[in-house]
Amino acid sequence: MSPRKIIIDTDPGQDDAVAILLALASPDEIEVLGITCVAGNVPLELTSKNARIVCELAGHPEVKVYAGCDRPMGRDLVTAEHVHGETGLNGPVLPDPVMPLQDQHAVDYIIETLRAAAPKSVTLCPLGPLTNIATALQRAPEIADAVQEIVLMGGAYFEVGNITPTAEFNIYVDPQAADIVFKSGIPIVVMSLDVTHKALVTAPRNAAFRNIGNAVGIAVAEMTDFFERFDKEKYSSEGAPLHDPCVTAYVLNPDLFAGRHINVEIETQSELTMGMTVADWWRVTDRPANALFIQDIDADGFFALLTERLARL
Ligand code: RIB
Ligand code: CA
Repeated sequence: MSPRKIIIDTDPGQDDAVAILLALASPDEIEVLGITCVAGNVPLELTSKNARIVCELAGHPEVKVYAGCDRPMGRDLVTAEHVHGETGLNGPVLPDPVMPLQDQHAVDYIIETLRAAAPKSVTLCPLGPLTNIATALQRAPEIADAVQEIVLMGGAYFEVGNITPTAEFNIYVDPQAADIVFKSGIPIVVMSLDVTHKALVTAPRNAAFRNIGNAVGIAVAEMTDFFERFDKEKYSSEGAPLHDPCVTAYVLNPDLFAGRHINVEIETQSELTMGMTVADWWRVTDRPANALFIQDIDADGFFALLTERLARL
């Protein structure tokens, strides 16, 4: 079976970094067509630098990395240095990238790539605010035909918000973009906080990263050591939630996950609940199902897959 073609849209972010490493460690199943960067956890200049740092850490300086939108579609940028540190990749000490950033804007790259692709042949894997994806869909709606599905990290229902009482960060930063994506008609798989908060890097799992014995294992252990502080303090979690790697793991093995095909709409009007993913989990409305909303994970299976793949880099 030929590898699945994906575009990773990302705002690294330690968890984004692990998601990218997992994808680059799995060339038999995943072909990373390109990595598009967006402002989110930290400003665009840093997310587009961090994406290249991670590609070089993986030993893949040939990957094409593009810078995209530096602010949300209709709101001021909100960043998350309080979670990820001032560089967005605090934890390990990693060298500045040597590989180049592509000249083409990420949105133009997404449009050009999808226009040239066969129908339903490319999977989009957004790991940050949906600004690049929504901007591309708004400028060239016909590109939706080339998308097999969108597997994204964002939103929450039972877990409610991690940046406000009601909203998850990726959706909150650009609710207008999220609204465009969720109304696009493209099949969507939502890795919400409901599932990512069950993918925790406990001490034994962190030790397993360190014991891999390669630079990637040490770096990932140091990344999760750093960014677990926020969740441990707020939720008394047992470790860092690996939000974004759930996206890559779903592409590799969807059987690790379980959810419901339901309606999900985005709050874009009320500041009180701005960016909330209004998930009709109990199907109390007649609004059409537009997303596979993931709620459960085989956490041991996920970490076994992740650790085994990181050892390949
Ligand atoms: O809420 C978690 C999400 O926001 C993750 O993608 C994290 O990297 C940040 O972008
Ligand atoms: Ca992210």
